[in-house]
Amino acid sequence: MKKNVLVLLFVLLTTLTNASIAEWGKTGHRTIGAIAEKHLSKKAKKHIYRLLNGSTLAFVSIHSDEIRSDHQYDHFKPWHYVNFPADSKYGEHPTNEAGDVVQGIKNCILKIRNEEVSIKEKAFYLKLLTHLVGDLHQPLHVGNGEDRGGNDIKIQWFWEDSNLHRVWDSDMIDSYKMSYSELANNTNYKTKKEIQTLKQGKLIDWVTETKKLANQTYNSAKKGDNLKYEYMYHQFPIVRQQLDLGGIRLAAILNEIFKKKSDWIDHFLSNTPDNK
Ligand code: ADE
Ligand code: ZN
Ligand code: ZN
Repeated sequence: MKKNVLVLLFVLLTTLTNASIAEWGKTGHRTIGAIAEKHLSKKAKKHIYRLLNGSTLAFVSIHSDEIRSDHQYDHFKPWHYVNFPADSKYGEHPTNEAGDVVQGIKNCILKIRNEEVSIKEKAFYLKLLTHLVGDLHQPLHVGNGEDRGGNDIKIQWFWEDSNLHRVWDSDMIDSYKMSYSELANNTNYKTKKEIQTLKQGKLIDWVTETKKLANQTYNSAKKGDNLKYEYMYHQFPIVRQQLDLGGIRLAAILNEIFKKKSDWIDHFLSNTPDNK
């Protein structure tokens, strides 16, 4: 009996811990990977195919979730998000010593571009990069430092207990009931010029952009709300836009990473704190 209670406690605790560091659910991350595949250059495709041993970006995008319970990867956990006050910009406050999604993305890019890094390690950082660029586009992964990116804002989603973070990670996407490939194949048409515009800016500009959406998201609901169709109607277009943007930008980074020399990457990473 005592043993049963202990087992139950363990299961409860591990479920709660996992819930608190959730990210775009599997479908969200895979959608971003699948959209990125559509925007890759021939050269990037070739390198990625070799590094991933034939797997797709959609397939490897959730690798970071699959290794989450392995403690040897614990130090990557803070890399999935960044928190700073609502009315400020990234870097205006001391950054997290343990790293954050901005430093995480920078680290991954530098590892993949470093010729001294082994193929195996590059493959690991490529999977992580695929995941983290996705996280950077989930508004509440750029939180305000008060509620773990909305994880502590308890609300209901169609009468079921949830929280604001989870609504944005997965509840809306799951309610839509489309597979990741269906979502990736149903993005809004964009001209080459529009795509070019979406790829502009430095990494820290992208954070500022997501932060604006995060502020909007915090204002979209309050503790105790029961969110339903109306919320979905207004907010799901933003989710879809962010999945598309994440995919397009992931491809932009990867297309540059596999060039011998890239002024774009140097510009993209400028003003980003040094990697940990
Ligand atoms: N844990 C703490 N802050 C977080 C955030 N903004 N997103 C996801 N998990 C977090
Ligand atoms: Zn999340
Ligand atoms: Zn994540």
